[in-house]
Amino acid sequence: MDFKRRLGNHPPRRSMDEDIEEILLTAETIQRRIGELAAEITHDYRGKDLTVVAVLTGALIFTADLLRQIPLPLKLDCVSVASYHGGTETTGEVKFDRLSLPDIQGRHVLVIDDILDSGLTLDAITDKFSHECGALEVKICVLLSKQKPRQKEIMPDYIGFGIADEFVVGYGMDYLERYRNLPFIGVLKVGG
Ligand code: IMP
Ligand code: MG
Repeated sequence: MDFKRRLGNHPPRRSMDEDIEEILLTAETIQRRIGELAAEITHDYRGKDLTVVAVLTGALIFTADLLRQIPLPLKLDCVSVASYHGGTETTGEVKFDRLSLPDIQGRHVLVIDDILDSGLTLDAITDKFSHECGALEVKICVLLSKQKPRQKEIMPDYIGFGIADEFVVGYGMDYLERYRNLPFIGVLKVGG
């Protein structure tokens, strides 16, 4: 779906709250689910040497909240990739910031991303981590999974919520780099 054509080239210019058409997930709902995910992850990785890799920038806030509920001696790293270039539709190419590749040789890796959409980003990351960076095992945790056909079939090991094929913002996710700091997840008003 071409969200950008519907939303326009500039973020709306009202206050952030006024730009939101609908709240999909409240801050409370998100936090409750994060508690459940953290318990599952803690159980699954007990006794393993875990490295968490957050996909910047969207996964920042989710990762910060999730990891503070996981009492394991894990390592945290980040990876920076680009596939959207400021729009709302994937360009089909995932570019890595080479300087930011994490040191995960021989490690159990849990990749954390904000949202699974086309699958291209997480497919490129798992491929690179397994085949070029030498990770022992790569699993995936996403806060949101859009229920739609994907360009790459990705089956995350941990999913916060399934959502419809809508463009969402907040809790780390942006439209033209805005709205990441909203405490909830919502849908933008069309037309600014
Ligand atoms: P994919 O490669 O198409 O799966 O895209 C994944 C990345 O696109 C995510 O990590 C997000 O940064 C971004 N993205 C996909 N859908 C949305 C959305 O609805 N709102 C904000 N960002 C999104
Ligand atoms: Mg992202």
